[in-house]
Amino acid sequence: MQNIHHFQEAKTQSRKITVVTCYDYTWARIIADSDIDVVLVGDSAATVMHGYADTTPANLDMMVMHTRAVAKGLNQKKFLIADLPFLSYRKSLDYSLNTVEALVQAGAQAVKLEGVRGNEQLIHHLVESGIPVMGHLGLMPQHVHGLGGFKVQGRVEALQKKLIEDAKSLEALGAFSIVLECIPTTLAQTITYSLTIPTIGIGAGPHTDGQVLVLQDLLGLSDCNAKFIKEFMSGKTLCLDALNRYAHEVTEEKYPTKEFTYE
Ligand code: KIV
Repeated sequence: MQNIHHFQEAKTQSRKITVVTCYDYTWARIIADSDIDVVLVGDSAATVMHGYADTTPANLDMMVMHTRAVAKGLNQKKFLIADLPFLSYRKSLDYSLNTVEALVQAGAQAVKLEGVRGNEQLIHHLVESGIPVMGHLGLMPQHVHGLGGFKVQGRVEALQKKLIEDAKSLEALGAFSIVLECIPTTLAQTITYSLTIPTIGIGAGPHTDGQVLVLQDLLGLSDCNAKFIKEFMSGKTLCLDALNRYAHEVTEEKYPTKEFTYE
């Protein structure tokens, strides 16, 4: 999936869209050779790569650095989306455009931002300027302090109505896709069926048009134990095993042998 049209095609053909986050060159090169459709340089970089408790410390420098590294590794083989960092799109239109410009120059083909209310003018302006915009509704991690923690959203009827309205607004404003994070399955299904643009779920059940997971979560490299995470590999165990074998072979003088030595 290398351009925006594939999102619409996938939805029309009922083909699920696969998205994964990535933050560095090494993993981007591996993903480039995989069957994954789309890569997101998420602001989860703040937690996954920098050890912060949430995504609010992500800033433009951080996002540009990771986006540039991932773009190099992908070498244009996958569609690349970058997150707009916390508050970077709430200051002024000018400030937001500078942020977007920096991310596009670093290699992003589209940007993602959280929420719609108050972002209408920006989304419209970006779309009109040729920048594809992905929305993000439900649990919006940049709102963690306002929400009082990472909690499933949209359990009460008033909030469900608001989420459906917001999704429709995003579509009307020209967003090409919407991430739905941590909402009940039936709500995600209702939103998905009421839109012509594809929804990408994370903790939103099986009825969205695609799924996104944080790379380190799906590889079993993180300690995140959210209910929706499936580890497709026991990454931490495999890595510890390799590191320990290396350490033991060095201390037991088994490595390096002649094979790994310059005569
Ligand atoms: O930052 C991120 O990783 C995200 C995904 C969880 C959708 O926004």
